[in-house]
Amino acid sequence: MSSDAAPAADEVRRQAARRRTFAIISHPDAGKTTLTEKFLLYGGALTAGAGSVKAKRDRRATASDWMELERRRGISVTSAVVQFGYRDRVLNLLDTPGHGDFSEDTYRVLAAVDAAVMVLDGAKGIEAQTRKLFEVCRNREIPIVTFINKWDRPARDPLELLDEIEDQLVLDPVPVTWPVGDGDRFSGVIDRRAGHFVRFGRTAGGAAAADEEIVAAARAEAEEGSTWGEAREAIELLDGAGAELDAKRFEAGELSPVFFGSALTNFGVRLLLDAIVDMAPAPAARGDADGDPRPLDSGFSASVFKVQSNMDPAHRDRMAFLRVCSGRFERGMTITCGRTGKTLATKYAHTVVGRDRSTAEDAWPGDVIGLVNAADLRVGDAVHAAGEPVRWTPVPAFAPSSFRLARCTDTSKAKQFRSGVRQLDSEGVVQVLRRPEGGESAPILAAVGPLQFDVAEHRLRHEFGAPVELAPAPWTTARRTDEASAAALRAMSGVTVAARDDGDLLALFESPYWLARLQSDHPDLTLHRLIGEG
Ligand code: G4P
Repeated sequence: MSSDAAPAADEVRRQAARRRTFAIISHPDAGKTTLTEKFLLYGGALTAGAGSVKAKRDRRATASDWMELERRRGISVTSAVVQFGYRDRVLNLLDTPGHGDFSEDTYRVLAAVDAAVMVLDGAKGIEAQTRKLFEVCRNREIPIVTFINKWDRPARDPLELLDEIEDQLVLDPVPVTWPVGDGDRFSGVIDRRAGHFVRFGRTAGGAAAADEEIVAAARAEAEEGSTWGEAREAIELLDGAGAELDAKRFEAGELSPVFFGSALTNFGVRLLLDAIVDMAPAPAARGDADGDPRPLDSGFSASVFKVQSNMDPAHRDRMAFLRVCSGRFERGMTITCGRTGKTLATKYAHTVVGRDRSTAEDAWPGDVIGLVNAADLRVGDAVHAAGEPVRWTPVPAFAPSSFRLARCTDTSKAKQFRSGVRQLDSEGVVQVLRRPEGGESAPILAAVGPLQFDVAEHRLRHEFGAPVELAPAPWTTARRTDEASAAALRAMSGVTVAARDDGDLLALFESPYWLARLQSDHPDLTLHRLIGEG
């Protein structure tokens, strides 16, 4: 090893330790966008009044044909990555689409983070999408910090909300802060660790960080009146029940520290950010396909967790998002894709803040870089700078529950259709399944939610010039099978076997009853559940 290798390794470890890479999971409308804005405000990345993320989102919605679909649907289907500094740390917040139909995309983003913030609406508690996203986090053992939002409005009994988290998610909620009052009477939180009261002051339009005053318990009792007494009573109950923080259980995803606040008025945002910095884990060595952890300070390597087309309508380009797993990325370095062995130039690497790009000069474990026009990269790929190729454990595909039979309606556009379908497959817009009899011209498109088909149809037509018909298909349930069982299944009625490009074989069933019957008649068939199946 050369004499300057050691300081470089130290620097990689030091930079990794400064990073926190996380996502926010929530039901639509719980306040994810607002909280993201406030994080940027506290990180100093948003100077003028908050609202830029949202404004950007609205602007973005009219920026291209592709975005037109978002606008018509009134939802956000693209993800963004924001990086901001807070205290002496670097925080990477990977945004996840809020819409239920896009949980496949969300799922991949969650494979690239080290922690998640679960935002609940204090008046609603756990909602359908919260539960689904939480399951994905549980599956990947991602530590979760809970933020109970909108406490400036009338909210449910906080003890009841904790019970709900415990019962419905089987997650141990441990309040770190406790609200004093709710709605108009929400004046601050008790910090259970310090025992003092943090009183919040409003700022006009929530455009600046909330004023915070630390008040000793005795004075708070005198000044806050009955709401203080109620909060203290609840805390005594929690203390009696032994609701204590345990770092190991948090990191294993079994226990969640809980914070109360209001993203709109900035109440509790600082305490939440402090918790992310102080409690959430820094990037750690990632396991490769053989299960061996690849040390953070080994040569540069990264994993592709998202591929997105047309982020910039002026260029009609394609961007691959990579999370750095080890080593230092330097712009201009040549990197190699482990799967294809092909090299890629990184002159045009970007960091991405919303849709605004800035050129990335270097990046460290936990950071996200965007590579423009890295046409051969697919979701799940590993890239590395030098030495032996790297392969990561594959991120399992999500269970599709909707299926369509795709067909190009203009035979002179068959080539465009085939390349369009391959492109959508590699981006993970839809899953593409092929049967021997259907081949490239009649693939099956599979999705978690039907909205993915609208995106696929729109893009095939407008981007690739291939008019398509997506006919309803009879299947509702898929199971992963193997070659031996596939041969047996092909001879049976009521089941179709199709292959994914990644080599997985899926058995498709028209009803769960038929699947259950086949399983009971032929217990030795391999029929594995897929991730995300209820
Ligand atoms: P999302 O990204 O999770 O879908 O939620 P988003 O932040 O867009 O928030 C949804 C609505 O809830 C917004 O209102 C937002 O202002 C409001 N909201 C978010 N956090 C709080 C909070 O702490 N307290 C209160 N009272 N409201 C909150 P909107 O009317 O839909 O949009 P806007 O016109 O206010 O932007």
